[in-house]
Amino acid sequence: MKKTLLICMVTAALVCAFALPSLYAVDAPGDLVIKAPAGTKMTKEPVNFSHKGHAALDCKKCHHKWDGAGAIKKCDSEGCHIDTSKEGKSAPTSYYSAFHGKADNSCVGCHKAMKKDKAKTGPTKCSDCHPKK
Ligand code: HEC
Ligand code: HEC
Ligand code: HEC
Repeated sequence: MKKTLLICMVTAALVCAFALPSLYAVDAPGDLVIKAPAGTKMTKEPVNFSHKGHAALDCKKCHHKWDGAGAIKKCDSEGCHIDTSKEGKSAPTSYYSAFHGKADNSCVGCHKAMKKDKAKTGPTKCSDCHPKK
């Protein structure tokens, strides 16, 4: 009886470990370096991003316009987060807000909200994401 229960639990754990990452047919790329759109004068160092470090999240949390099947677009695709102007910081198309806005799917928005809830999360300090030159 005890043994059957153990086998059930091990099987369930294995199913979770291997079935979840293949929820979608698209694979997440390895570690990325995110840079501002071509032509933008960057004031900060580019940011390292690891999909592995965020594997517990659903892809659609961040890739919020993705249909779950087709190609995944970059954040600064046409019609998306392309406004790099200072004035455009509060616009939905703002490039800056996509990564620092209050929404819980922006890098800083999510990390700050989780930090407030005392959960294990990523950095919230500028220099932890943008290494000093
Ligand atoms: C925590 C947020 C987050 C999660 C969760 C996430 N990604 Fe990403 N992903 C990103 C960011 C940021 C980029 C870089 C986008 C850019 O360069 O504009 C990216 C880029 C990609 C790219 C490359 C797009 C391109 O054309 O350069 C693919 C493919 C991708 N992700 C697939 C996935 C898949 C599949 C999952 C789920 C298993 C996933 N991502 C989960 C944030 C995330
Ligand atoms: C919806 C929530 C969420 C979003 C959005 C998110 N993160 Fe995170 N991030 C986390 C959590 C949770 C962890 C801690 C994971 C762990 O160590 O268990 C983390 C960890 C990190 C870490 C430290 C560990 C590692 O993977 O190197 C970095 C750096 C990081 N995030 C950068 C980013 C960047 C850059 C973005 C935006 C492109 C981003 N995160 C978006 C939740 C999020
Ligand atoms: C959780 C990670 C994270 C934190 C913390 C963070 N940023 Fe960013 N930031 C990003 C990402 C990702 C981008 C988009 C990639 C890029 O352009 O470097 C970005 C882009 C930028 C840009 C536009 C590109 C450029 O170089 O001019 C500025 C400005 C910026 N961040 C300033 C800040 C400042 C100031 C802080 C602290 C108040 C901060 N960031 C905190 C992740 C972060």
